[in-house]
Amino acid sequence: MGALVARLWRSGERLDTKRIQHLWSSYIERNTDFFEKVLNNVVARDTGIAEILLSRKHASNPDEQKYVLSVLGDNFIEFFEQLVQDDKLNDLAELKRVCFVLGMQHAAFTTERFSMTYWDVFTLAMIEELEIGGVQPRDLRAWQALMHQVVKAMDEGYEHGQHTQQRSQFD
Ligand code: HEM
Repeated sequence: MGALVARLWRSGERLDTKRIQHLWSSYIERNTDFFEKVLNNVVARDTGIAEILLSRKHASNPDEQKYVLSVLGDNFIEFFEQLVQDDKLNDLAELKRVCFVLGMQHAAFTTERFSMTYWDVFTLAMIEELEIGGVQPRDLRAWQALMHQVVKAMDEGYEHGQHTQQRSQFD
C-alpha cells in the first residue's frame, strides 16, 4: 500500500479538467451507489473508521449501517458534484479552499484525532472501486491527482480545526 500512496502523492499540481469530468459523467454519476460501495469497503477494512462512522451513530444492525452509509454516500455525491465543476477544477486555490473547509468540519465530527492513515484508506478504496469498474487508466490518473489535492487540503483544514478546537477548550 505504501508504494501506491507514494505514487498518488507525487501527482502534479495541474488538474486535467476534461478527464475528471469525463470520468464523473461516464462512470460515477451513472453508478449512484459508487460512494456507498466505497464507504462499505472503508468500514470493512478499518475498524477505527467503522467505529467513527457507525458505532458512534449507534448503527448496530446491518440495515441501520446500510442506511447510515447511504446517507453519507449521498453527501459525498453532493460534495464531489460541486467539486468537478469548471470553476473549481480550473481554479486550484478555490478547490483547495472548499476542501480545507470540509477538513475543518471533520475536526468537529469526533473529539479524538483521526489516524493519518484514514485519509489513505478513503482514497485507495475510491481508486480501487474505479479500477473494478474498468475506468480508463488516463482518467484514473486524473482522478488520483484530484484526490491528492482534496486530501492534502482536507488534512490541512483538519489540522487547523483540531488546533482551533484545542485552543478554544482553554479559552
Ligand atoms: C477523501 C476523504 C474524505 C472525504 C472526501 C470526505 C467527505 C465527507 C463529506 C462530504 C461529508 C458530509 C459533510 C456534511 O454533512 O456536510 C463527510 C462527513 C463525515 N466524514 Fe468524511 N470525508 C473524507 C474522509 C473522512 C475520514 C478519514 C473520516 C474518519 C473516519 C471521515 C469521517 C466523517 C464523519 C464522522 C462524517 C460525519 C458523518 C455524519 O455525522 O453524518 N471522513 N465526509
